[in-house]
Amino acid sequence: MLCLGIESSCDETAVALVSEQGLLAERLASQAGMHALFGGVVPEIAAREHLSVLPVLCRSALEAAGVAPSDVDGVAVARGPGLLGSLLVGLSFAKGFCLGTGAALLGVNHLQAHLLAPGLERQLAFPALGLLVSGGHTHLYRMDSATEFTLLGRTLDDAAGEAFDKVAKRLNFPYPGGRFVDELAREAEPDHGLFPRAYIDNDNLDFSFSGLKTAVVSYLDAHAGLRAARMTGPEGLAAQGVDRAALAKVCASFNWAVADTLRIKAERALDRQKDLRALILAGGVAANSGVRAAMAALARQRGLELFLPTPGLCTDNAAMVAHAGLLALNQGFRHGLDLEAVPRGRPVPCDWQRERG
Ligand code: KG4
Ligand code: ZN
Repeated sequence: MLCLGIESSCDETAVALVSEQGLLAERLASQAGMHALFGGVVPEIAAREHLSVLPVLCRSALEAAGVAPSDVDGVAVARGPGLLGSLLVGLSFAKGFCLGTGAALLGVNHLQAHLLAPGLERQLAFPALGLLVSGGHTHLYRMDSATEFTLLGRTLDDAAGEAFDKVAKRLNFPYPGGRFVDELAREAEPDHGLFPRAYIDNDNLDFSFSGLKTAVVSYLDAHAGLRAARMTGPEGLAAQGVDRAALAKVCASFNWAVADTLRIKAERALDRQKDLRALILAGGVAANSGVRAAMAALARQRGLELFLPTPGLCTDNAAMVAHAGLLALNQGFRHGLDLEAVPRGRPVPCDWQRERG
């Protein structure tokens, strides 16, 4: 099966072609630079940009793979959660493609696509505990197969990535600045007492990161010398009067507080779901050094198979959407041309139909 994947749920426009042989071609255009001017994603600009870029990327990916539109058997499109206007551009394009070529349509849950992404590199093992940590979501799932997900816990307020981005914004790093905080964090040992690990003294599997975010931002405000007016990245901080060692300590302590909070809840989930064989980490924050180390240690300690996507597969991309779509299409799942987009904050329904072959 040749599957075209389309991703346009936020500020990355991406298309990819996958088959049972793996990834054949991929094209990605990031709008990050455009939104950096505003310190966050501007929904209307994002949708307009998807509209102009998506068809061009699609043609380029088809050419790179040496296939024609009529060769495509299925179109997998991220149908939510995401920015509604952005999703509508991807969905409309996917529907038009299917109408024109007769390819099967499948709407993919963007969050589930993130969690299946490591499967592009190595066959996943189930049942697994899936931890998705991105800019918009912090979700813990039980995964029984590539199409069976049970939500165990989620953030009640900010996502982990949001906390990273807000801290980075206070430091005047360009948006999204999570990776800069991580880069500095690697230069110091964490102080475990500096910031709270919020919302762990309970018996649930939900998260809360807004308190930690506020604690770090308040600390930065209260300590002169930790930031300059405009920081382009970790390079050249000393020349701008920033106490690099002190800032690295703050970043390392913040990184640790996030990673250890995630570790505690993942461990709690594993205590309750004794049959889980694997641990899958996904989403943009899965690129974080502290989070990766914490999950690697947990998997080792519990004898679980660990799946950590390479950094390029952590952030939004279309290969993960095409891959998730291919797996579902091969199981006979299909959507009609009335497929709806699901904006952020609403659960993505399992409204696909199954064709019996
Ligand atoms: O999954 P993703 O590309 O987009 C969403 O679907 O949200 O995740 C982007 C998020 C941003 O918040 C970004 O700052 C964060 O992932 N991120 C990191 C790192 N690399 C990316 N956060 C912490 N440490 C990193 N190394
Ligand atoms: Zn994402």
